Amino acid sequence: MMTRREWMRQAAGLTAVAAMPGLTSGRGLAHTSAKSGQAITGAGSLKAHAAARGLLTGCAVNAKVFREDEGFRKLLAEQYNIVVPENCLKWNMLRPTAETYSFADADSLVAFAEAHAMKVRGHNFVWHEAIPGWFAGTVIKDNAEKFLVDHIRTVGGRYKGKIHSWDVVNEAIWIPDGRPDGLRSSSPWFQMLGPGYIDLAFRTARATDPTALLTYNDYGIEYDNEEQGKKRAAVLALLRRMKADKVPLDALGIQSHLHAISKDGFGRGIRELIDGAKALGLQVFITELDVNDDTVAATDVAERDKVVADVYRSYLTAALEGPEVKAVLTWGVSDKNTWLNNGTKFRKQHPERLQRPLPFDPDYAPAPAFFAMRESFDKTKKRWEYVRSKRADQLKGLTGSYRAARLLDHGFEEPEEAAREQRRDRQREDPGEGDITQRGHLQTALIRSHGAGYA
Ligand code: XIL
Repeated sequence: MMTRREWMRQAAGLTAVAAMPGLTSGRGLAHTSAKSGQAITGAGSLKAHAAARGLLTGCAVNAKVFREDEGFRKLLAEQYNIVVPENCLKWNMLRPTAETYSFADADSLVAFAEAHAMKVRGHNFVWHEAIPGWFAGTVIKDNAEKFLVDHIRTVGGRYKGKIHSWDVVNEAIWIPDGRPDGLRSSSPWFQMLGPGYIDLAFRTARATDPTALLTYNDYGIEYDNEEQGKKRAAVLALLRRMKADKVPLDALGIQSHLHAISKDGFGRGIRELIDGAKALGLQVFITELDVNDDTVAATDVAERDKVVADVYRSYLTAALEGPEVKAVLTWGVSDKNTWLNNGTKFRKQHPERLQRPLPFDPDYAPAPAFFAMRESFDKTKKRWEYVRSKRADQLKGLTGSYRAARLLDHGFEEPEEAAREQRRDRQREDPGEGDITQRGHLQTALIRSHGAGYA
């Protein structure tokens, strides 16, 4: 077995991360914003403002940009304490053939994150999209279970202990498919394995990497309208069903691909999601935030940016009202690289104009959305204050590390009985899990880097 240090050295050597100048120097973000004169790095960074509240903040990282752009790497290290690979852990990127894996991009991002004390989200094990060309005809009913399990064991095993949370299953609900439970029956995984593929994936993920928070991730569930209300209800019903069946599940990921112009607001919808997750003892992550501005009529960039920032502000204000949301990640960093500008699929109204959905503009200067994020973090209560005020009695008498493990594993306001049950399950799945001292130390370390107030 390789030690952790050896693994890091190997990963860094393989991908030449160690030689990347952006790790230590190079052109990055100016330290103050030219427009506002405010400090935007160090204590002014997104991660400093987030950490002061016990929050993680991060972004999706495009492998090509990460590889080629030193300024981008510097920006990542300055601003964020968690990253998620945009594509390189998806089947089509990771598996050039049925027999081979291509880990170089993911390895280098994980090594970079470790070198900068950032956490990593894994995205994703199972999705109906990003299926490789060789898949159809090779993966069939008879071997689909083996392919799924082997994939999770191989990929999850490689990064075991290094992943904050895995999106185990992505986008499994799709109302138009017409099933009463809302499951996406058109997914190749559903077609080959039936609805059981979801539980299988989560159970395999827990057995493979017991410290990663196992997440169900979906989109189109946060707005206050009928269509999203239906999808939201189906997602929550799925999570409830999984908990009832003792499927290991720790978090709900709300993708949050928002629109600058919408007749529907946020408030009730996001509350429903968060309350539903909380009742099941789940943490909540905002996993893919961006604001599509194609429908903004204004041609002036400053005006468009303001509309986008206002959506960031109102959404995050609603999402961060309580303590349940533990991480806020945007889908990309700068408007220079956003999936919304890949082709014109998302630029129907203004195909000639590039979208500006992210917190940094194409020159890596902070956009109004950056300031909206920071202000929203500042407004939310410190996570540990909720713990101190609301759970003081329940936590009284527990040792530091045990208490720490409870907070991270089960969220802040989980009913006592559910917490006990989940602990028993984990112990059954993996007797090592029962060693609360060992687990406590690990979690305490996580909490330390997460925010001083936890320790
Ligand atoms: C997108 C990437 O950003 C694109 O580069 C890729 O071509 C397609 O996938 N929901 C998800 C993400 O869960 O994985 C998607 O990412 C965006 C929507």
